[in-house]
Amino acid sequence: MSSESSRASRRLLAPRRPNATDVFVTAIAVLVIGGVVVAALLRTGSAETGREGDEVSNEVSNAAALVEVDRSQRGQLEPVAYGASVAPSGQVVELSLVAAPSTVSIVEGIETEVWAYNGTVPGPEIRVELGDTVRVELRNELPHTTSIHWHGIRVPNAMDGVPGMNQDPILPGGTFVYEFTPPDAGTYWYHSHLRGNEQLERGLYGAIVVEDPTDPPYSQDLVWLIDDWLMETDGRLDPNFDSMVDVHHSGRWGNVRGVNGSTSDSAQVAPGERIRVRMVNASTARIVRPDFEGGTLDAFVIAVDGLPVERPLPLDGFDLAPGNRIDVDVTVAVDASGPIMLSDGFDDVEPHPLIALDVVGEPVETPRFDPPSARLPDWSPAFDWAPDETIEISLVSDDMMAGGAMEAPAEPGTLAGDEGEQFRWALNGRSWPDGAVHQAELGRPDKLRFVNDSGALHPMHLHGQFFQVVARNGEPVREGFFRDTVLLDPQDTVDVVVMPLDAGSWALHCHIQLHGEYGMMMRYDVTS
Ligand code: C2O
Ligand code: CU
Repeated sequence: MSSESSRASRRLLAPRRPNATDVFVTAIAVLVIGGVVVAALLRTGSAETGREGDEVSNEVSNAAALVEVDRSQRGQLEPVAYGASVAPSGQVVELSLVAAPSTVSIVEGIETEVWAYNGTVPGPEIRVELGDTVRVELRNELPHTTSIHWHGIRVPNAMDGVPGMNQDPILPGGTFVYEFTPPDAGTYWYHSHLRGNEQLERGLYGAIVVEDPTDPPYSQDLVWLIDDWLMETDGRLDPNFDSMVDVHHSGRWGNVRGVNGSTSDSAQVAPGERIRVRMVNASTARIVRPDFEGGTLDAFVIAVDGLPVERPLPLDGFDLAPGNRIDVDVTVAVDASGPIMLSDGFDDVEPHPLIALDVVGEPVETPRFDPPSARLPDWSPAFDWAPDETIEISLVSDDMMAGGAMEAPAEPGTLAGDEGEQFRWALNGRSWPDGAVHQAELGRPDKLRFVNDSGALHPMHLHGQFFQVVARNGEPVREGFFRDTVLLDPQDTVDVVVMPLDAGSWALHCHIQLHGEYGMMMRYDVTS
């Protein structure tokens, strides 16, 4: 029996949005397979329902029934000014990052070999002020080519870090200097953009925060990078980074979860403190639904994917997909006592603990101020527009690829490990590096329709721009914030509107790293 089938048998908890029946069925499944699960350490991290047909009803027909306004007759949309964009201050923040193998402790008392920036997982937190220029020299001491992408930051196109689109891969022993002046304040992150299924999983990521001098005075400003790891009992990361089962389903879901490179991290707060917690989902595939439990506090979302929301949103129920960030405004009650847990409730019968807030010390007076917010341009008129492009997401077999156009993988091991059918992910029938190309115009609103013709989850990420979701499965949506990454459930149709402000060739891809690695990426060209 192959390791693939035993791996598949562990994946019985489906990360669809749970409802009562799901929870009940899952509970039974847990009882039945409990022995297996325990024996396999905590390997209940799951994949999903698979591509074999019997999924959720197809709601695409709804969307098709809309009477759509043709491109030539559309009006303009309100223009966009994302953050409080400022001129460069002339201040340069310099940093050198070395990507190299390292050993860290993710689970207390156990060592894990990782790949890391400057020896730690996550890499060093980069914090700059709006207007500062960031200059990072990356030295590659890995046994593999690499690159860095500055997720969410509107950098010049040549600094965006996608090999084959914005730069050449950085060879082992090589260096590359990234330089940019972030135009928008907010919570961002940086990560390898080469073989992310292996390089992010091994630990090559970190946070970059762009502070706005007008930000209100929170008692503390914390960054929590949420991740999961598929780990053996001896602490070794499962070395099969190219599991075909994971490619075909929703990527590699870990069996241990934690924050800032640890499964037992904690932060200390005093009763009454009001803190800003910047959460990043840095995992290669897992969707996280963070919420606090076990104590008295108020928590609401004040920024999504870096940018302030129109008005604060409840934290409860917010699905943080790989790539997404939220800033959370947390007020600890004056009479609170700890610990208060941040837990993930996405696919579990019981919420799974991620990090503890230890409430310690004397109560302090709660700072009072209005949380950051931004008026959001109203793009609802675009709901009726015909999409500029419909992007269909599907799994294709290698043989089905047009004319056998697939090039041999540039890197050894790209298709390593597994036997049997070879499938790849495709956007509009084309699989990266032979990907599709979308043409957009600078300053002209661009409507994209994503159609998920598969049973897997797909957090779709567009580089270099923010967008608003205007419809989901044919129903109008007004989320009240911009995004750079939107999650599609199996069979979902999601309409987004982009206002391209930065010229160049940008990557558009699924942030489930195994999907991106196996073809699910295309080019988004912005020209004037
Ligand atoms: Cu965070 Cu192209 O990715
Ligand atoms: Cu995907």
